[in-house]
Amino acid sequence: MLSSFRRAYSIAVHEALPLSNTLTLIPGGTRGIGLATAKLFARHGSRIVVLGRDQERIKHVLEKELAPIHGSNSSVEHLGFQCDVSNQEDIERTIKDLNQVAPVDYLVNSAGIARDSLLIAHASQDIENVISTNLMGTIWLNKAVAKGMMRRKRGAIINISSVVGLQGNIGQSVYSASKSAIIGFSKSLSKELGSRNITVNVIAPGYIDTDMTSSIPEDRKKAIVARTSLGRLGQADDVAEAALFLAQAKFITGQVLVVDGGLSL
Ligand SMILES: NC(=O)c1ccc[n+]([C@@H]2O[C@H](COP(=O)([O-])OP(=O)(O)OC[C@H]3O[C@@H](n4cnc5c(N)ncnc54)[C@H](OP(=O)(O)O)[C@@H]3O)[C@@H](O)[C@H]2O)c1
Repeated sequence: MLSSFRRAYSIAVHEALPLSNTLTLIPGGTRGIGLATAKLFARHGSRIVVLGRDQERIKHVLEKELAPIHGSNSSVEHLGFQCDVSNQEDIERTIKDLNQVAPVDYLVNSAGIARDSLLIAHASQDIENVISTNLMGTIWLNKAVAKGMMRRKRGAIINISSVVGLQGNIGQSVYSASKSAIIGFSKSLSKELGSRNITVNVIAPGYIDTDMTSSIPEDRKKAIVARTSLGRLGQADDVAEAALFLAQAKFITGQVLVVDGGLSL
Protein backbone atom coordinates (compact mmCIF):
# COMPACT_ATOMS: atom_id res chain seq x y z
CA MET A 1 0.00 0.00 0.00
CA LEU A 2 2.74 2.39 1.07
CA SER A 3 4.92 1.54 -1.93
CA SER A 4 2.04 2.03 -4.41
CA PHE A 5 1.34 5.41 -2.78
CA ARG A 6 5.02 6.36 -3.15
CA ARG A 7 4.97 5.30 -6.80
CA ALA A 8 1.79 7.28 -7.52
CA TYR A 9 3.24 10.27 -5.70
CA SER A 10 6.49 10.16 -7.63
CA ILE A 11 4.65 9.93 -10.96
CA ALA A 12 2.38 12.84 -10.00
CA VAL A 13 5.39 14.97 -9.04
CA HIS A 14 7.14 14.02 -12.25
CA GLU A 15 4.16 14.88 -14.44
CA ALA A 16 3.86 18.28 -12.79
CA LEU A 17 7.39 19.28 -13.80
CA PRO A 18 7.42 22.13 -16.35
CA LEU A 19 9.66 20.40 -18.92
CA SER A 20 8.02 16.94 -18.72
CA ASN A 21 7.72 15.14 -22.08
CA THR A 22 10.39 17.29 -23.70
CA LEU A 23 13.86 16.43 -25.01
CA THR A 24 16.82 18.77 -24.57
CA LEU A 25 19.92 18.30 -26.72
CA ILE A 26 23.06 19.68 -25.07
CA PRO A 27 26.27 19.55 -27.12
CA GLY A 28 29.01 20.21 -24.54
CA GLY A 29 26.76 18.74 -21.84
CA THR A 30 29.60 16.67 -20.43
CA ARG A 31 31.30 19.50 -18.52
CA GLY A 32 30.97 23.06 -17.23
CA ILE A 33 28.03 25.17 -18.36
CA GLY A 34 26.54 22.37 -20.48
CA LEU A 35 26.60 19.89 -17.61
CA ALA A 36 24.99 22.38 -15.21
CA THR A 37 22.30 23.00 -17.84
CA ALA A 38 21.76 19.27 -18.34
CA LYS A 39 21.22 18.77 -14.60
CA LEU A 40 18.90 21.77 -14.24
CA PHE A 41 16.74 20.81 -17.25
CA ALA A 42 16.63 17.19 -16.00
CA ARG A 43 15.46 18.41 -12.57
CA HIS A 44 12.65 20.24 -14.42
CA GLY A 45 11.58 17.03 -16.09
CA SER A 46 13.24 17.14 -19.51
CA ARG A 47 14.89 14.11 -21.07
CA ILE A 48 18.53 15.02 -21.71
CA VAL A 49 20.83 14.07 -24.58
CA VAL A 50 24.44 15.15 -24.09
CA LEU A 51 27.07 15.26 -26.82
CA GLY A 52 30.82 15.26 -26.25
CA ARG A 53 33.99 13.71 -27.62
CA ASP A 54 34.94 11.59 -24.60
CA GLN A 55 32.98 8.33 -24.26
CA GLU A 56 34.13 7.71 -20.66
CA ARG A 57 33.04 11.21 -19.66
CA ILE A 58 29.62 10.69 -21.30
CA LYS A 59 29.16 7.44 -19.34
CA HIS A 60 30.10 9.22 -16.11
CA VAL A 61 27.61 12.03 -16.76
CA LEU A 62 24.77 9.63 -17.56
CA GLU A 63 25.39 7.30 -14.62
CA LYS A 64 26.65 9.62 -11.89
CA GLU A 65 25.24 13.07 -12.70
CA LEU A 66 21.89 12.57 -14.47
CA ALA A 67 20.56 9.15 -13.46
CA PRO A 68 20.44 9.99 -9.71
CA ILE A 69 18.28 13.09 -10.28
CA HIS A 70 14.94 11.26 -10.31
CA GLY A 71 16.19 7.98 -8.84
CA SER A 72 15.53 4.47 -10.06
CA ASN A 73 11.74 5.00 -10.24
CA SER A 74 12.10 7.43 -13.12
CA SER A 75 10.82 6.49 -16.56
CA VAL A 76 13.08 9.12 -18.14
CA GLU A 77 16.18 7.63 -19.76
CA HIS A 78 18.85 10.22 -20.50
CA LEU A 79 21.18 9.59 -23.44
CA GLY A 80 24.66 10.50 -24.58
CA PHE A 81 26.33 10.34 -27.98
CA GLN A 82 30.00 10.63 -28.83
CA CYS A 83 30.07 13.40 -31.42
CA ASP A 84 32.70 15.88 -32.55
CA VAL A 85 30.76 19.07 -33.30
CA SER A 86 33.51 20.37 -35.56
CA ASN A 87 32.64 17.54 -37.96
CA GLN A 88 29.47 18.08 -40.00
CA GLU A 89 29.08 14.39 -40.91
CA ASP A 90 29.39 13.38 -37.26
CA ILE A 91 26.62 15.85 -36.36
CA GLU A 92 24.30 14.72 -39.16
CA ARG A 93 24.79 11.05 -38.25
CA THR A 94 24.13 11.80 -34.57
CA ILE A 95 20.96 13.81 -35.18
CA LYS A 96 19.69 11.09 -37.56
CA ASP A 97 20.21 8.49 -34.80
CA LEU A 98 18.61 10.79 -32.25
CA ASN A 99 15.56 11.41 -34.46
CA GLN A 100 14.86 7.65 -34.31
CA VAL A 101 14.47 8.08 -30.54
CA ALA A 102 12.54 11.34 -30.14
CA PRO A 103 12.35 14.85 -31.60
CA VAL A 104 14.39 17.69 -30.11
CA ASP A 105 12.42 20.37 -28.23
CA TYR A 106 15.35 22.40 -26.91
CA LEU A 107 18.89 22.81 -28.20
CA VAL A 108 21.33 24.39 -25.73
CA ASN A 109 24.54 24.56 -27.66
CA SER A 110 27.37 24.75 -25.13
CA ALA A 111 30.19 22.91 -26.93
CA GLY A 112 33.12 25.24 -27.35
CA ILE A 113 36.86 25.69 -27.00
CA ALA A 114 39.18 28.63 -26.34
CA ARG A 115 42.74 28.78 -27.70
CA ASP A 116 44.10 32.14 -26.67
CA SER A 117 46.94 33.85 -28.51
CA LEU A 118 47.86 37.19 -29.99
CA LEU A 119 46.86 36.98 -33.65
CA ILE A 120 50.38 37.30 -35.05
CA ALA A 121 51.45 34.23 -33.07
CA HIS A 122 48.22 32.25 -33.40
CA ALA A 123 48.87 28.70 -34.65
CA SER A 124 46.89 28.02 -37.84
CA GLN A 125 45.58 24.72 -36.49
CA ASP A 126 44.24 26.44 -33.35
CA ILE A 127 42.51 29.10 -35.48
CA GLU A 128 40.84 26.39 -37.56
CA ASN A 129 39.83 24.39 -34.49
CA VAL A 130 38.24 27.38 -32.75
CA ILE A 131 36.25 28.38 -35.83
CA SER A 132 35.22 24.83 -36.74
CA THR A 133 34.13 23.95 -33.17
CA ASN A 134 32.55 27.20 -31.98
CA LEU A 135 31.11 28.64 -35.16
CA MET A 136 30.77 25.83 -37.70
CA GLY A 137 29.63 23.44 -34.94
CA THR A 138 26.88 25.89 -34.02
CA ILE A 139 25.79 26.28 -37.64
CA TRP A 140 25.72 22.51 -38.36
CA LEU A 141 23.88 21.75 -35.11
CA ASN A 142 21.26 24.46 -35.63
CA LYS A 143 20.76 23.29 -39.22
CA ALA A 144 20.43 19.66 -38.16
CA VAL A 145 17.72 20.28 -35.53
CA ALA A 146 15.83 23.11 -37.29
CA LYS A 147 14.04 20.87 -39.81
CA GLY A 148 12.42 18.70 -37.13
CA MET A 149 11.43 21.76 -35.11
CA MET A 150 9.89 23.39 -38.19
CA ARG A 151 7.84 20.27 -38.93
CA ARG A 152 6.51 20.22 -35.36
CA LYS A 153 6.12 24.02 -35.16
CA ARG A 154 7.80 24.13 -31.77
CA GLY A 155 11.26 24.49 -30.31
CA ALA A 156 13.76 26.76 -28.64
CA ILE A 157 17.41 27.14 -29.57
CA ILE A 158 19.92 28.71 -27.20
CA ASN A 159 23.43 29.27 -28.52
CA ILE A 160 26.23 30.12 -26.10
CA SER A 161 28.36 33.09 -27.17
CA SER A 162 30.48 35.19 -24.80
CA VAL A 163 30.91 38.78 -23.61
CA VAL A 164 34.18 38.53 -25.55
CA GLY A 165 32.04 38.27 -28.69
CA LEU A 166 30.45 41.61 -27.78
CA GLN A 167 33.45 43.51 -26.49
CA GLY A 168 36.58 41.80 -27.82
CA ASN A 169 39.62 40.94 -25.73
CA ILE A 170 43.38 40.92 -26.17
CA GLY A 171 44.57 37.42 -27.10
CA GLN A 172 41.09 36.31 -28.13
CA SER A 173 40.57 37.77 -31.61
CA VAL A 174 39.72 34.41 -33.19
CA TYR A 175 37.62 33.19 -30.25
CA SER A 176 35.86 36.57 -30.31
CA ALA A 177 35.25 36.24 -34.06
CA SER A 178 33.61 32.86 -33.52
CA LYS A 179 31.43 34.21 -30.69
CA SER A 180 30.38 37.44 -32.49
CA ALA A 181 29.42 35.40 -35.52
CA ILE A 182 27.16 33.22 -33.37
CA ILE A 183 25.19 36.36 -32.45
CA GLY A 184 24.63 37.48 -36.08
CA PHE A 185 23.83 33.91 -37.06
CA SER A 186 21.28 33.47 -34.26
CA LYS A 187 19.54 36.80 -34.91
CA SER A 188 19.14 35.92 -38.60
CA LEU A 189 17.95 32.40 -37.82
CA SER A 190 15.41 33.75 -35.34
CA LYS A 191 13.85 35.68 -38.23
CA GLU A 192 13.82 32.58 -40.44
CA LEU A 193 12.21 30.34 -37.81
CA GLY A 194 9.91 32.73 -35.97
CA SER A 195 6.87 32.01 -38.16
CA ARG A 196 7.18 28.33 -37.12
CA ASN A 197 6.95 29.19 -33.42
CA ILE A 198 10.65 28.52 -32.83
CA THR A 199 12.74 30.91 -30.73
CA VAL A 200 16.49 31.40 -31.21
CA ASN A 201 18.41 33.26 -28.51
CA VAL A 202 21.97 33.71 -27.35
CA ILE A 203 23.57 33.76 -23.92
CA ALA A 204 26.76 35.78 -23.55
CA PRO A 205 28.43 34.64 -20.32
CA GLY A 206 31.18 36.61 -18.63
CA TYR A 207 33.90 34.69 -16.77
CA ILE A 208 32.45 31.45 -15.47
CA ASP A 209 34.29 29.09 -13.14
CA THR A 210 34.74 25.97 -15.34
CA ASP A 211 37.55 23.88 -16.84
CA MET A 212 37.79 26.49 -19.60
CA THR A 213 38.87 29.22 -17.17
CA SER A 214 40.74 27.03 -14.66
CA SER A 215 44.17 27.93 -16.04
CA ILE A 216 43.64 31.70 -15.60
CA PRO A 217 46.17 32.83 -12.96
CA GLU A 218 44.70 33.79 -9.56
CA ASP A 219 45.78 37.44 -9.79
CA ARG A 220 43.99 37.80 -13.14
CA LYS A 221 40.89 36.16 -11.71
CA LYS A 222 40.94 38.67 -8.85
CA ALA A 223 41.23 41.54 -11.34
CA ILE A 224 38.23 40.17 -13.29
CA VAL A 225 36.17 39.79 -10.10
CA ALA A 226 37.01 43.39 -9.18
CA ARG A 227 35.44 44.54 -12.47
CA THR A 228 32.12 42.79 -11.79
CA SER A 229 29.30 44.59 -9.97
CA LEU A 230 28.43 41.44 -8.04
CA GLY A 231 32.01 40.83 -6.86
CA ARG A 232 32.42 37.23 -7.95
CA LEU A 233 33.13 34.93 -10.88
CA GLY A 234 30.06 33.31 -12.42
CA GLN A 235 29.13 29.71 -11.72
CA ALA A 236 27.94 27.28 -14.38
CA ASP A 237 24.54 27.22 -12.62
CA ASP A 238 24.17 30.99 -13.23
CA VAL A 239 24.25 30.34 -16.97
CA ALA A 240 22.07 27.23 -16.73
CA GLU A 241 19.33 29.30 -15.06
CA ALA A 242 19.44 31.80 -17.93
CA ALA A 243 19.13 28.91 -20.42
CA LEU A 244 16.09 27.57 -18.55
CA PHE A 245 14.50 31.02 -18.62
CA LEU A 246 15.04 31.39 -22.37
CA ALA A 247 13.82 27.87 -23.10
CA GLN A 248 10.50 28.70 -21.44
CA ALA A 249 10.16 32.28 -22.71
CA LYS A 250 7.51 32.22 -25.43
CA PHE A 251 7.84 35.80 -26.78
CA ILE A 252 11.60 36.40 -26.64
CA THR A 253 13.63 35.68 -29.76
CA GLY A 254 16.76 36.98 -31.49
CA GLN A 255 18.08 38.35 -28.19
CA VAL A 256 21.42 38.23 -26.41
CA LEU A 257 21.19 37.68 -22.66
CA VAL A 258 24.40 38.79 -20.95
CA VAL A 259 25.17 36.72 -17.83
CA ASP A 260 28.30 38.32 -16.44
CA GLY A 261 27.59 39.78 -12.99
CA GLY A 262 27.96 43.27 -14.43
CA LEU A 263 31.45 42.74 -15.88
CA SER A 264 30.66 44.37 -19.22
CA LEU A 265 28.89 47.47 -17.84
N1 LIG B 1 33.72 29.48 -18.92
C1 LIG B 1 33.59 30.73 -19.32
O1 LIG B 1 34.08 31.67 -18.68
C2 LIG B 1 32.84 31.05 -20.58
C3 LIG B 1 32.58 32.39 -20.84
C4 LIG B 1 31.88 32.73 -22.00
C5 LIG B 1 31.46 31.74 -22.87
N2 LIG B 1 31.75 30.43 -22.60
C6 LIG B 1 31.29 29.44 -23.56
O2 LIG B 1 30.44 28.53 -22.90
C7 LIG B 1 30.52 27.25 -23.54
C8 LIG B 1 30.82 26.20 -22.47
O3 LIG B 1 32.07 26.53 -21.87
P1 LIG B 1 32.54 25.86 -20.50
O4 LIG B 1 33.17 26.93 -19.71
O5 LIG B 1 31.47 25.05 -19.93
O6 LIG B 1 33.72 24.95 -21.08
P2 LIG B 1 34.24 23.50 -20.64
O7 LIG B 1 34.02 23.27 -19.20
O8 LIG B 1 35.61 23.43 -21.21
O9 LIG B 1 33.25 22.51 -21.46
C9 LIG B 1 33.27 22.51 -22.85
C10 LIG B 1 32.34 21.44 -23.34
O10 LIG B 1 32.38 21.43 -24.78
C11 LIG B 1 32.63 20.12 -25.25
N3 LIG B 1 33.36 20.19 -26.52
C12 LIG B 1 34.45 20.93 -26.82
N4 LIG B 1 34.83 20.70 -28.09
C13 LIG B 1 33.95 19.80 -28.60
C14 LIG B 1 33.80 19.17 -29.86
N5 LIG B 1 34.64 19.40 -30.88
N6 LIG B 1 32.78 18.29 -30.03
C15 LIG B 1 31.92 18.03 -29.01
N7 LIG B 1 32.01 18.60 -27.80
C16 LIG B 1 33.01 19.48 -27.60
C17 LIG B 1 33.45 19.48 -24.13
O11 LIG B 1 33.35 18.08 -24.15
P3 LIG B 1 34.61 17.09 -24.48
O12 LIG B 1 35.86 17.86 -24.19
O13 LIG B 1 34.40 15.93 -23.61
O14 LIG B 1 34.44 16.78 -25.92
C18 LIG B 1 32.76 20.04 -22.90
O15 LIG B 1 31.61 19.29 -22.59
C19 LIG B 1 31.61 27.39 -24.60
O16 LIG B 1 31.01 27.64 -25.85
C20 LIG B 1 32.39 28.60 -24.15
O17 LIG B 1 33.02 29.24 -25.23
C21 LIG B 1 32.42 30.06 -21.46
